[in-house]
Amino acid sequence: MCGIIGIVGNQAVSPRLIDSLKRLEYRGYDSAGIATIEGGKVERRRAKGKIRALEDKLLSEPLSGLVGIGHTRWATHGVPNERNAHPHTAGRVTLVHNGIIENFAELKASLIHQGRVFESDTDTEVIAHLIDRQLGLGDSPIAALKNTLDQLTGAFALAVLVAGENNQIMGARRGSPLVVGHGVGEMFIGSDALAVGPFTNKISYLDEGDFVVIDHDRAQIFDAEGTAVDRPIKIVSASAALVEKGNYRHFMEKEIHEQPESCQRTLGAYVDALTSRAIPTEGLDFASVERIQIVACGTASYAAQIARYLFEQLADLPCDVEIASEFRYRQPALRATTLAVAVSQSGETADTLAALRWCKAGGLRTAALVNSHESTMAREADFLWPTHAGPEIGVASTKAFTAQITALTALAVTAAVQRGRIDAAEETRLVKVLLEAPRLIAASLQTEDAVRSLAIDTAKARDVLYLGRGPMFPMAMEGALKLKEISYIHAEGYAAGELKHGPIALVDESTPVIIIAPQDSFFEKTASNMSEVIARGGRVILFTDEAGAAHAPQGARVVIAPSSDPLITPLIMSAPIQMLAYFVAVQKGADVDQPRNLAKSVTVE
Ligand code: G6P
Repeated sequence: MCGIIGIVGNQAVSPRLIDSLKRLEYRGYDSAGIATIEGGKVERRRAKGKIRALEDKLLSEPLSGLVGIGHTRWATHGVPNERNAHPHTAGRVTLVHNGIIENFAELKASLIHQGRVFESDTDTEVIAHLIDRQLGLGDSPIAALKNTLDQLTGAFALAVLVAGENNQIMGARRGSPLVVGHGVGEMFIGSDALAVGPFTNKISYLDEGDFVVIDHDRAQIFDAEGTAVDRPIKIVSASAALVEKGNYRHFMEKEIHEQPESCQRTLGAYVDALTSRAIPTEGLDFASVERIQIVACGTASYAAQIARYLFEQLADLPCDVEIASEFRYRQPALRATTLAVAVSQSGETADTLAALRWCKAGGLRTAALVNSHESTMAREADFLWPTHAGPEIGVASTKAFTAQITALTALAVTAAVQRGRIDAAEETRLVKVLLEAPRLIAASLQTEDAVRSLAIDTAKARDVLYLGRGPMFPMAMEGALKLKEISYIHAEGYAAGELKHGPIALVDESTPVIIIAPQDSFFEKTASNMSEVIARGGRVILFTDEAGAAHAPQGARVVIAPSSDPLITPLIMSAPIQMLAYFVAVQKGADVDQPRNLAKSVTVE
């Protein structure tokens, strides 16, 4: 969601703020703005739409300060327009904000009562007024910030400029991430390591409730009580090169093609290629776990649903998967012997984090399977299960999804070993199968031309139906999600067995029906569903393997992915399904990497 950058620098800050905002674009936004301070005076420029619009504005009305803040806004309170774009100013205070202030309405009413005038519809503006009011009462800037934070309810990260304080920026985090970047004679704050990546790789991660003031040389960090604290400096590897598109047209395309390596890297953390054994998690014995409760949102929840089949079949370990936004409010009956697992690319998704915290507060052991290893979930869970997909920039998740499936599959093998459900020979066989996955994913990328040729017709559709059975059912839902996210075509993923209970009514010659059915124990049944679609004039597109293709019904268009052991079939089928969504979106001229209304990391409810 919203992205934040703040720079106390030694050279013109506007171009650097813009550079950084471009790195934050992937989080999703609909307006952008910057403010700089010079000679004690703060000036800002804001624009609706893309950062390009902000750059155009800066060409005609440049800002020349050396210290400044920037923001990409994903609208929550107030439509996306220039008036609601950040930074927001009240009196001496100018600030940017990521998150939601839940008690903003009452705060705003009281501020209006005190004669304060608001210029936007945002919740953010109340924070600027509150800090300015505290300054007016004689508080120092840092005391004004602290006293304001104490009045706020909700989740947020902030970067704050105060007129007259030429060489400092204040920041705060509660619920939304914020990092401090350490340069040479320069300091930075930003939403993540990527935001400050062009300037430094020395990062301190603020803890929940921390607030900070940076100047040219140092960061003074305070905890929620206002006690000065040290947060360690870490060297991060998010090098600039990792977030360039290279020769690809879009980040999504690049990330689809990175999957053999991201799967390989992730496997390295969970299986030992030399011994062909699964690597157990230190301190966790699955034999002591009676149930797994996975919570996740979006694509991560589909990866989790695929894993459910494996935990239950391989390890005889009951596994529930629930959408975090539902789980967190339904007061589920939990048991201390349940292991709660959050699956999340960002490790910051508000609902998943809340669900994880709820489980932890209930006394459950918790694990975070995350791609951002310094994220809040990573730090709060008892066990960190990393995925090694590297930075994922395209809003539509691809390589993070397959990295999640990779890690969860390996963990299911570990669970099967520890629970005595498979012997050493079977463990070795399964690990060897897993180790084949990167090569087979690379081979499945070779379906690119076949998939591209389907895009022209599919792009004309108004609705698309995806069907699958077993682990291919969550794959069908993921395929439908990918298509609707980036091409804006309505798509639904259904269990193939449910076809006759409703979706078959949608089948006509203009509705492509995409069936994901490798040759497995479900194939015969899904083949019958295909025939039912074709008999009603439907257009079947079959994603399968060679053995499945031999049984494709007449009239079906077929994409043939490499054959594989069922353990890794979801990994092998992913790339062709992702590529279909990608090529359809390109065909439609859509904004592939930043689809409208979507955010990469949903840090509000
Ligand atoms: C957003 C993103 C999705 C992602 C979901 C969960 O909706 O657009 O790509 O799957 O959030 O995010 P997480 O970071 O928790 O995996």
